[in-house]
Amino acid sequence: MVEGTEGPASEDNRTPQPFNLGLVNSARVYDYLLGGKDNREIDRDMADQMLSRAPEIKTLAWFTRSFMLKAVEMAAAAGIRQFLDLGSGIPSSPNVHEVAREIEPSARVVYVDYDPVVHAHCDALLTKPCGVTALLGDVRRPHDILDQLKNHTLIDFDEPVAITLISVLHYVMDDEHPAEIIAAFRDQLAPGSYLAISHGSVDSAPEVLQVIAGTKDTSAQVTFRSAAQTEAFLAGFELLEPGVVPVQQWLRPDLPDTRMVMLGGIGRKP
Ligand SMILES: C[S@@+](CC[C@H](N)C(=O)[O-])C[C@H]1O[C@@H](n2cnc3c(N)ncnc32)[C@H](O)[C@@H]1O
Repeated sequence: MVEGTEGPASEDNRTPQPFNLGLVNSARVYDYLLGGKDNREIDRDMADQMLSRAPEIKTLAWFTRSFMLKAVEMAAAAGIRQFLDLGSGIPSSPNVHEVAREIEPSARVVYVDYDPVVHAHCDALLTKPCGVTALLGDVRRPHDILDQLKNHTLIDFDEPVAITLISVLHYVMDDEHPAEIIAAFRDQLAPGSYLAISHGSVDSAPEVLQVIAGTKDTSAQVTFRSAAQTEAFLAGFELLEPGVVPVQQWLRPDLPDTRMVMLGGIGRKP
């Protein structure tokens, strides 16, 4: 089903390489689910297997995007003018800077992804407006990203920042210490900063969990976690209502449940 699934988990296979197109790739699977064109057959096969078990996953992808954009709106409405989108993905409109600048025209936005192809897309398509930047960076190396941000004075850490980590942390395995990664960013943030997270839930239907098990040893390998584990990632932030819940509950009360459950939570640094 997926090339490269044999052997022990390897960061090389799980870190996208520009010319290694034979492995399923999380950014391209997501692009396909969102209706984009920047994907390959191997990614579409994986996505189609997921869709055969839970066709509403395409809808869920849009609920999750909408959750992210709502978090950006909330932060911009609270006066935040700096946005850091970690694991930004292949560009899909509207994007963070478009939404933030509707509310706060001077908003500065940095898009970060570890996939060189995604980074090239972001650099080419998103960074035309002044104050919008794309960086190549791996969230598993937070200090490298923080150094890039500081050395190029892209973000003023004396002022609040809104960080979006949307559907990224489930690609970080437990032994890669996701809580420590978040703490490294959190410790730099000024009071009033926001952190929005979406994370795949262990409460997803078993048939969905079974398909994603086939992503082992690729950049799409995931570790889904519980609501309690996801909430723990927001330690040090005041959890905003309605808390860590399926993302659609952040949008409207009447949206349907999905067999794949994506949790969303937003915190504000006191
Ligand atoms: C499912 S997509 C989500 C994209 C975007 N956040 C959104 O919600 O539309 C996951 C993205 O996270 C990126 N990603 C995964 N692990 C990463 C890491 N360790 N560092 C940086 N980016 C990462 C992938 O390359 C991909 O673009």
